[in-house]
Amino acid sequence: MSYVLDERINEKLKKVFAELGFDTAYAVVKTSDRADLSDFQCNGALALAKSQKQNPRVLGEMIAEKLKDDPDFAKISVDGPGFLNFVLSDEMIASAMDEMTTDERFGIPEVKNKKTIVLDYGGPNVAKEMHVGHLRSGVIGESMRRIEDFIGHKTISDVHFGDWGTPIGMILSEVISRDGNLDKMESYDIATITAFYKQANIRCKEDESAKEKARIITAEFQDGNEAYTKAWRHIRKISVDAVKQNYQELGVHFDLWLGESDAHKTCFEIKKIAEEKGLLEFDDGAYIIRLDEENKPKPPVIIEKSDGGFTYQATDIATIKMRVDDLKADEIIYFVDKRQSLHFEQVFEAVEKLGIAPDVKLCHIGFGTVNGADGKPFKTRDGGVMNLKDMIKLSKEKVGESMPKSGEECSMSQEELEHLIEQVAISAIKFQDLKNNIASGYVFELDDFANFEGKTGPYIQYAIARINSIIRKNSEIMPGKIMITNREERVLALKAAQFCNVIMRCGSEKEPSIISEYAYNLAQAFSSFYNASPIKDAKSKQIASSRIALAGLIRDMLKKLLYLLGIEAPEVMPKG
Ligand code: ARG
Repeated sequence: MSYVLDERINEKLKKVFAELGFDTAYAVVKTSDRADLSDFQCNGALALAKSQKQNPRVLGEMIAEKLKDDPDFAKISVDGPGFLNFVLSDEMIASAMDEMTTDERFGIPEVKNKKTIVLDYGGPNVAKEMHVGHLRSGVIGESMRRIEDFIGHKTISDVHFGDWGTPIGMILSEVISRDGNLDKMESYDIATITAFYKQANIRCKEDESAKEKARIITAEFQDGNEAYTKAWRHIRKISVDAVKQNYQELGVHFDLWLGESDAHKTCFEIKKIAEEKGLLEFDDGAYIIRLDEENKPKPPVIIEKSDGGFTYQATDIATIKMRVDDLKADEIIYFVDKRQSLHFEQVFEAVEKLGIAPDVKLCHIGFGTVNGADGKPFKTRDGGVMNLKDMIKLSKEKVGESMPKSGEECSMSQEELEHLIEQVAISAIKFQDLKNNIASGYVFELDDFANFEGKTGPYIQYAIARINSIIRKNSEIMPGKIMITNREERVLALKAAQFCNVIMRCGSEKEPSIISEYAYNLAQAFSSFYNASPIKDAKSKQIASSRIALAGLIRDMLKKLLYLLGIEAPEVMPKG
């Protein structure tokens, strides 16, 4: 029998429903809406009564009667129009906690149909410094990768580097107009190339002929021009190196560092398939695929532009084919700004028409922007776009203010402290992002995001370090069988018992904020428990041992939750 509480009650209910000849589909409980009345409730009698044209209270009483002698329940009542309310016995809750302490997965079952899921996040571009806009994609994607992985799927993450479009032609053209040729290309570092790109952007906006030049160079480059390809290799390499460093600092991992360029060859195949299926149309100099114009009209997908270049859409379609053929993807999830929703709708519909990804689930999880206090995309004080490096620096400064200094105030070495500050700073940035619903944008709270109090990453990291310290200080007390001896202990255990549901819900809704909210509530429940439940001065040795075991369990769970959000949990955390 499962030790996950609601599952365990469901199993019992199903048995009773079957005995009574009731439809077992209604035999499900949920966490009670009225924690003052019960721990779990089942509303099934109401729906059941409707379908059987009977009185729900009568049906409820019949069910309750059959379960009344079960020692797992302290009380079962039928309330209101026919809600079944269950109060669990303390022993049942305690035994579930005991089982959790011996289970690394805390009750999460291994998925039955293991899927190969490709996660597309990051999506940075060559020659552009990463800014806060790139933050969300990396942070959310990394968290979802860890969650899908933990649930038991095979995950493959790909950065899908933007290394192929017009920016390449713009940079090449800029360098040629400065130097006359591309000879010096390999001596340019990322900062210089980024500056060239910025300059090229301004030039192309002001001057049509510069834009045209860049366009022609892009087309020639995509056509295989050797000199351009050699220069591009350098641009790509140093851009990838810079981006890798950024993502490493953020703790964002990619299995694959493929880019738009890797899909180029397959774009020809896509064009061919479209042609064979009679989907390709030549329209105004470009090759297009028309989409459904009746139900939800969308502009056609442009596969190849009039200059012969494949588009961003074509690249994404080709990449899907590669992910299906080479990686055997069952599901592909994109974590990309929601302003690109139409792009993905078009791409997915074209893929369906082309029949290149049958039975593969394609899903775009669109996120909102990171905004400043004015509600507009986040900027630095001088009005520029905040880049990721500056953001990490800012966070470190904030965290540093609440840390003791090495030496007199703290026994940690300078080096250890710096590492700790980094772990906390990254946690502050990531948690601020992940505590928000993905689809909604959020205001970057410059003042509070790195606090040790409130709904922040540092708060949860600190809660873990505090439990470590409690366990260290009570090292003579061995963890023992868990008992419920007061209200706070009971509330904490019931919260902990929700772990499995939280993770599964997060997996199906693709919403890490469900985990951050839960981690925060669990840490708070621990704090109330600890304030109300002395350990050294507990009434008996058994109670002390039980509390140490419960503390260890909650610590391990909080660590796992932070891990799933992509956040590290330092062992020790001094506060200044
Ligand atoms: N490089 C793109 C951008 O900056 C994002 C790429 C997202 N992924 C994708 N497969 N389209 O807008």
